[in-house]
Amino acid sequence: MNPDTVSPAARPVPRGVPGRLDGRVAIVTGAGSGIGRATALRLAAEGASVVASDLSADAAAETAALIGDSALSCQADVTDGEAVERLVATTVATFGGVDVFHNNAGMAQAAKPLGDVARAEWDRLIAVNLTAFFVGAQAVAPAMRARGGGSIVVTASTSAVHPRAGLSAYAAAKSGVLGLTRALALELAADQIRVNAINPVAVRTPMLSEFRLAADEELFDKLATTIPLGTAIDAEDVAAAVAYLASDDARYVTGIALNVDGGRDL
Ligand SMILES: NC(=O)c1ccc[n+]([C@@H]2O[C@H](COP(=O)([O-])OP(=O)(O)OC[C@H]3O[C@@H](n4cnc5c(N)ncnc54)[C@H](O)[C@@H]3O)[C@@H](O)[C@H]2O)c1
Repeated sequence: MNPDTVSPAARPVPRGVPGRLDGRVAIVTGAGSGIGRATALRLAAEGASVVASDLSADAAAETAALIGDSALSCQADVTDGEAVERLVATTVATFGGVDVFHNNAGMAQAAKPLGDVARAEWDRLIAVNLTAFFVGAQAVAPAMRARGGGSIVVTASTSAVHPRAGLSAYAAAKSGVLGLTRALALELAADQIRVNAINPVAVRTPMLSEFRLAADEELFDKLATTIPLGTAIDAEDVAAAVAYLASDDARYVTGIALNVDGGRDL
């Protein structure tokens, strides 16, 4: 898809609560695909101006083009502190501030025994899936403080509460995300900055095959039998939960991990 040729008619039909995020400014990382793209579209549909950020400049630009005039794209590697500072500064310069930060970019771990996990793989998974949340929160908190508050939402995973064998680094990173969510919720409450996590169960996005799930229908079917509501979940279900936490409907909600898991982790 060429962002320059996306016609308004080709844009997805907006879903969400109209006007709930009017006047708000949101940054979404990992917005070039899957859950991040769905969230960027959802937040925009509810009225927010959106900065779609991704490692892939083209993918981020595609998402911004799908939204239209109320969005811009910004390439950034979430593990690069200077790049994330630039992302926040660009957002403030363009839209006047930041109200919502969806820390969503992440990477999968190919399931493998502990002894086969190389140190470099462990380090990268922790950097992208955990350290980037610290980096992003550190960069965005001053801008939210200047605005009188805000909402940080991080995409964790049911792996944090219900790990699968072979995903040691992924589960460790996502569990760390939940600890950091609670710590930051306490620390930033005085600034009216709320910090919450979302725990999605397996969603069919490009990432899923890297866990060897979508590619392995038998494994996916087995997982489906453990989900009381079945596997109807899609990226929009996660986006809807993020939009709720981003909005004033959740103004008294902070420090939680909201499972979007069809009841799997009960
Ligand atoms: N798909 C699932 O089943 C599932 C379940 C639970 C949690 N999650 C989490 O949801 C989030 C989004 O995953 P998804 O399923 O939409 O995957 P996806 O592969 O569709 O999208 C991930 C996006 O993140 C971007 N990205 C990766 N590394 C980056 C980096 N260093 N800097 C900036 N951007 C980077 C990629 O370019 C991609 O566009 C991740 O944090 C993932 O761990 C996914």
